[in-house]
Amino acid sequence: MSAIHPPTARLWWKQPIDRVEGTWIAIAFLWCLIMFFMMPYWHITGKQNLSNEAYRTSPEAFSKKAQDMVDKHTVRTDTDQNIPVVHPPAGSDVYLIARLWAWWPVLELEQGKSYRLHLSAMDYMHGFSLQPANINLQVIPGYEMVVTVTPNQTGKFSIICNEYCGIGHHKMVSNLYVVNK
Ligand code: CUA
Repeated sequence: MSAIHPPTARLWWKQPIDRVEGTWIAIAFLWCLIMFFMMPYWHITGKQNLSNEAYRTSPEAFSKKAQDMVDKHTVRTDTDQNIPVVHPPAGSDVYLIARLWAWWPVLELEQGKSYRLHLSAMDYMHGFSLQPANINLQVIPGYEMVVTVTPNQTGKFSIICNEYCGIGHHKMVSNLYVVNK
């Protein structure tokens, strides 16, 4: 039997399986099972579970919450991009808007404090990618994704957009500051 010619026996699936082929099927099946059970196992024991909190929202409702935070807690202007830098109280809800082609506002968080970071998009899908921490989240219009974050190191971090969102996609970068208070 070859791949080019039709099998000599019409009912080829009734032929006994070759030992080598059977072994590979068994190995592949076992590997599938290992991979399958790794998912729940890693969910329980791993330390990289992302939040699965997501709520329906609208661009208007979400931008209002972000605007309230900016009105109350703006501390300066980020000179890189002329965007307000917000230093919200430790432990509070913080909002980050994604839109063509910017992140708004710039957040300044405190090391070792937990925040509920809310993400939503005003127009199309964007991707929140925090570098170099390697956090990656989809930001979707009409939905509010909430992640609990606890910055463990100080510094200036970059946020880049990780979902292609048009001609300015590559320019959709911003900063996030973590300070020690
Ligand atoms: Cu926003 Cu790519």
